[in-house]
Amino acid sequence: MMLDSFGRDHNYLRISLTDNCNLRCFYCMPEEDYEFTPASRLMQFDEIEAIAKIFVAEGVNKIRLTGGEPLVRKDADKIILSLSKLPVTLTLTTNGTRLHEYVEVLKQANIKSLNISLDTLQADKFLLLTRRDQFRQVYDNIHRLISNGFHVKVNVVAMKGMNDTEINDFIEWTKDTPVHVRFIEFMPFSGNKWTSNKVFTWQQILAVVKSKYPVVRLTDEKHDTAKKYTVPGHAGTFAVISTMTSPFCSGCNRMRLTADGKMKNCLFSKEETDLLTTFRNGDDIVPLIQQSIGSKAKELGGQFTADFEQVHAEEIHNRSMITIGG
Ligand code: 5AD
Ligand code: SF4
Repeated sequence: MMLDSFGRDHNYLRISLTDNCNLRCFYCMPEEDYEFTPASRLMQFDEIEAIAKIFVAEGVNKIRLTGGEPLVRKDADKIILSLSKLPVTLTLTTNGTRLHEYVEVLKQANIKSLNISLDTLQADKFLLLTRRDQFRQVYDNIHRLISNGFHVKVNVVAMKGMNDTEINDFIEWTKDTPVHVRFIEFMPFSGNKWTSNKVFTWQQILAVVKSKYPVVRLTDEKHDTAKKYTVPGHAGTFAVISTMTSPFCSGCNRMRLTADGKMKNCLFSKEETDLLTTFRNGDDIVPLIQQSIGSKAKELGGQFTADFEQVHAEEIHNRSMITIGG
């Protein structure tokens, strides 16, 4: 058991495989020319495997692979298959552009559910948001995964003036498609142009949906970050993730490992714990993991509060999203 000072048990590890990505979403990549971490500073395959095993021995039973984009890493398939042998629920968060190459690997790894990012249903807006013309590829891959029996959650970062007019287009998509759409409140990270007036809150999102559809609240699972809903008769469901207006930190069970082997006890934590250097020196990383958990803040990395209109992004010390992995 990895308990923090607030009694939260940490059994869920998110491992970033790379800070590289084949898309350029403005809310994720910093503005300045971004240099991806050189391969030698990234955890190597055997290091990921060994460090993951250490976390599992300490009580981790769920692992999510993230990025950047995890599937641009050349040995992603090897990593997925190796981690699938551990006694964990394995899953991943991907931008969906390469999924057509991975269907068999995901099946072999017994992955049942995965999260795919897609912020718009319009090809031209996709290009504007990601600076790559890949809407069709991602959209088709989502349907491909669903037809192959996977449970697909689509992450939509809701941003005022960007995709707030598309909320009900996503809901309409759930009518005949058994997809689970999750609207995520826009969060501030280093260099991502966040301002409080771009946050489209979960109350606003829900009001938009309710203006057109009858909405039924579903029960959430333990540790769920999302509030789940459905429209009666729709094949799919939807949810809102209210990080900014109503954080769910009290039930947090998550830890993060960056691609360069630093542990973060919170998405918004300022501090990082370098596990990889200690591991490469042949020393025990368990005390470092325990220390990191022990110093975890009560909410939002101790850096701001749910009064999001008072948040000034430049005062938050953190990495950019692409180097954390969400
Ligand atoms: N705010 C909210 N969600 C974000 N994501 C990336 N950056 C942000 C942000 N600033 C989401 C991506 C992806 C997941 C890993 O995190 O859409 O689905
Ligand atoms: Fe890549 Fe995802 Fe970041 Fe977009 S949000 S740039 S797809 S890692």
